[in-house]
Amino acid sequence: MSGTYIKAARADEVPPGERLLVEVDEQIVVLFNVGGEFFALDDVCTHDDGPLSEGKLEDHTIACPRHGAKFDVRNGKALTMPATKPTRAYECKVENGDVLILVAAASSAAETSTAAPAGAVLDRPAPTSAPTTLQSAGSLAVKSDETCVAPPIQENPALAGEGAPTELNEDSIREALKQVIDPELFVNIVDLGLIYGVTLGELPEGKSHIAIDMTMTSPACPAGPQLIQNSKDVLGRLPNVGGVDVKLVMVPPWTPDRMTEAARDQLGIF
Ligand code: FES
Repeated sequence: MSGTYIKAARADEVPPGERLLVEVDEQIVVLFNVGGEFFALDDVCTHDDGPLSEGKLEDHTIACPRHGAKFDVRNGKALTMPATKPTRAYECKVENGDVLILVAAASSAAETSTAAPAGAVLDRPAPTSAPTTLQSAGSLAVKSDETCVAPPIQENPALAGEGAPTELNEDSIREALKQVIDPELFVNIVDLGLIYGVTLGELPEGKSHIAIDMTMTSPACPAGPQLIQNSKDVLGRLPNVGGVDVKLVMVPPWTPDRMTEAARDQLGIF
């Protein structure tokens, strides 16, 4: 990759097993020292912008402190859900006791040599919203909140008309909820494991009441209210339903192991 090596920090500022948050060429980068080797990533979890600099480092793996997605510090690859995309990794080298990182040419036009200004060490992690403001030559793969909008309900014809289930039970309710799609992962909320509980109650005149406990993969996703509304809509269309309540619960927090095999297949996780 073409670009310019820029000093990010002195090597002795980052002891083995530690990390350091620095600003290099207007980008917030976290430096890792793993057994004397240095690695650098954008301080952005690609799931929902969590600050990787605040995560737990184990060998070559950094875990996002927000929902636990793991990334390989050597290449930025997303190793576990809920992240599915890599975060940006930078080539590193050590020269004369300095850690240099290779910044892409498009984002370093002002720099002319390795004697460029040193990266600024940040004495505390950047706020989680900060990386979304970085726009260095469009090279950052940051995700805008605008992408976190629930897609329309995926109508399932089998749940309507003559073939519609006549019996209301947990299975038919979960089947109906599969029409509601998570906007970040494009997998239905049932296979993602977002439905923690289904309670069926009786109402006057033979009607039924459905109460759902639902969680989110990310508490920050602004599509939460829309997912709740979509769930109410699909359940409200089931026969003899007189009322639907959907309660958002964040305890226990969602973890990727709640996903079904179908969701794993869809996301390419084996
Ligand atoms: S923000 Fe990193 S796992 Fe959700």
